[in-house]
Amino acid sequence: MCGIIGYTGNENAVPYLLKGLGSLEYRGYDSCGISVFQKGKIKTLKCSGRIQTLSEKLCKNNLSSETGIGHTRWATHGKPNSRNAHPHESQSGLFSVVHNGIIENHASLKEKLVKDGFVFKSETDTEVIAQLLEQNYSGSALSSLSKTVSQLEGSFSLGIICREEEGKIFCVRKQSPLVAAKAESGSFVASDITALLPFSKDIFFFNDDELAVIEKEKISFFDLSGNEIKKTAETIDFSASHQEKEGHEFFMHKEIMQQPHVIKETINAYFKNGRISFENINLNKNELQKTSRIYLVACGSAYHVALSGKYLIEEMAKIPCEADIASEFRYRNPPLNTNTLVIIISQSGETADSLAALRLAKNQGAKTLSVVNVPLSTIAQESDSVIFTHAGPEIAVATTKAYSCQLAVIYLLAAYISSCLFLLSEEEEKDYVSKLSSLDEKIKQALETEPLAKKLSEILGKSKNIFFIGRNTDYPVAMEGSLKLKEISYLQSEAYGAGELKHGTISLIEKGSVVIALCCRKSVFKKMLSNIREVKARGAFVVALVSENQKELAEGADFIISLPETENRFSPSIEIIPLQLLGYHTAKIKGCDIDKPRNLAKSVTVE
Ligand code: M6R
Repeated sequence: MCGIIGYTGNENAVPYLLKGLGSLEYRGYDSCGISVFQKGKIKTLKCSGRIQTLSEKLCKNNLSSETGIGHTRWATHGKPNSRNAHPHESQSGLFSVVHNGIIENHASLKEKLVKDGFVFKSETDTEVIAQLLEQNYSGSALSSLSKTVSQLEGSFSLGIICREEEGKIFCVRKQSPLVAAKAESGSFVASDITALLPFSKDIFFFNDDELAVIEKEKISFFDLSGNEIKKTAETIDFSASHQEKEGHEFFMHKEIMQQPHVIKETINAYFKNGRISFENINLNKNELQKTSRIYLVACGSAYHVALSGKYLIEEMAKIPCEADIASEFRYRNPPLNTNTLVIIISQSGETADSLAALRLAKNQGAKTLSVVNVPLSTIAQESDSVIFTHAGPEIAVATTKAYSCQLAVIYLLAAYISSCLFLLSEEEEKDYVSKLSSLDEKIKQALETEPLAKKLSEILGKSKNIFFIGRNTDYPVAMEGSLKLKEISYLQSEAYGAGELKHGTISLIEKGSVVIALCCRKSVFKKMLSNIREVKARGAFVVALVSENQKELAEGADFIISLPETENRFSPSIEIIPLQLLGYHTAKIKGCDIDKPRNLAKSVTVE
C-alpha cells in the first residue's frame, strides 16, 4: 500500500521520481505528489488521481532539483484528495515526509501537538510525523528522526527531506518495505526493487528499525541509537522487461498468457531425476513425521490456494490441515507448538497480515515455510524455509500467473510430504511428476478458450446475479473465479460449495441468474450434474466447465466450456484459465481500468 521513492544526485530528480512512481503505482493510485528543494526551500506539488495527472502538473511548473521524494497513495486515513496526498510538510516547511504504513497512535500524538500549537492541514496520520520531526529538531535531522521513531506506534517506512540539510534523504523502516540503491547518477530509495531496477541492480535492504541517510555519493545506515551499520549491496538478477506490456493491451492479459511458461519454470525448479526435490528447504523427513497439524495461511487469492492446499495435503499426506485467512489467524489464538507447520503463501512476500501471522507462528515455536514470489521479500527472509514460485514480477493488481504458480507449488508440496511419510511410493511419485510435467501444455490448450470467454463476457456484462459453484478442490477455484470477476469488473458475484446452495442461497436463483459450474473433477462430476439441474429448474442460465471427454454428459447446461482432460488433482490449474479470461473480458467490455481496479493496491502492507 502506497509507494515511496526518493532520488538525490547530479541530475534533475523530477524525471527519476516520476519514473519511479510509475513503477510503484500498482501499490496505490488514488493520489500522488513530490517534494523537491527550490531556492533553499521545500516545494511540494500533489494531486488526486494518477501519476499522469501529476506529470502534467509538473510540466507546467517546470520544476528542477537534484533531490526529491515522491509518493503514490492508497488511502487509509482521510479521503483520496490532494490535501491528504503525500508528501506532508511540517508546519514551517522544515520537513517533508512520504510514508507507507499506519501510525496507530496518531490520534493521541495529534492531540498533544495541537495543544503545543501545531496546526494540521490534512486528515492523515502521516502529518503527525512531519510535525513531530519539526518539534524534535535541534540541528540534526537524523537525531530528530530517531526521537520521532521512538514516539511512533504502528508500521512505517518513511522518506524525509529537511530544508536545512539539502541533498540528503532521511529514511527509516519499521514493518513496511524499503530498499535503497546506488547508481552512477546518484542514490535512490524506494518501497520495492521494481522501482529501482531501471537505475541499478545493486540493492541495499533495510531491516526493521534501521535508519539511513541517502546522499548522492553514499548511503549510510544507522540503528535507532545512531550507531552506524555497515551494509553491502546485493546484486539482483532481474530484468526490467516486466515493465513493458509487450503488445498486450493490459498487463493482466500478458500475465495470463505467460502462465504455461512460468508454471513450467516453477515445476522444473523442483524436479530432480524424475522426483520432487526441495533441497534448499530445511524440512526433513523426521520433522515432517513429527508434524501433527498444518496451517496454510494467506490473504485473497493466495488464501484460495491455501484452501486448495488443505484439500490436497489432507488427501495425500493424511495430516490434518487448516486454511486460514491471515487477518483472522493472528487474532484467533490458534493452538501452535513445535509439531505444527505453518505455511504462509504470498506473492509479494510483504502482505502485512501474512507477515504478522508468520511472526506469531515463529513466536509460538511452530515451524514455518513460505511460498513466495518476490526474492528477498520480508516473508521470504523471516521464514524458516522458503519455496519460491517462479512467476516473475506480476504487475496487474489482479493476480493470475502468481496464483497459478502457487497452485503448482502446492501440488509439489502435497506429493513431497506424502512421499516423506511413505504414503506415496517412488513409482507413484514418478507417475505424478510425469503428469505434472505436462500441465503447462494443458494450460496452453485451456488458453484457447479465450474466444468462448469473450462471448460469455457479453452475457455476464448484462447480468446482476452471478454464482460460481464447485466441489472439492474446484470450490476454491470457484472462489478465485468469483474474485477475479468482482475485483476488475465490479460485478457482484458469489462462490459456493455446490452442495451448499440448497441450504439458503438457492432462494436467490431466478430467471436471469447466471450459475458457473466447475465440473472438471471427475470424482464429483455426477453430484455437480445434480446441482446444475437444481438451479436450471429455477431459471438459471448455466455455464458448465467440463473436461472434453465429458462434455456430452453436461446436459442441462446452456453454455459449455470444454477443457483439456487432466489428473483430478490438477483441475484447479485448468479451470482457472477461462475464469481469468472471463473476468478480463467482462471488465474490458465494461471499460474498466483492468490493471488498476478502483480501491485496490497490489501489495497490502497495512493490516
Ligand atoms: O502478495 P500476496 O499474495 O500476499 O497478496 C495477497 C492478496 O492481497 C492478493 O492475492 C489479492 O487478493 C489479489 N490481488 C487478488 O487478485
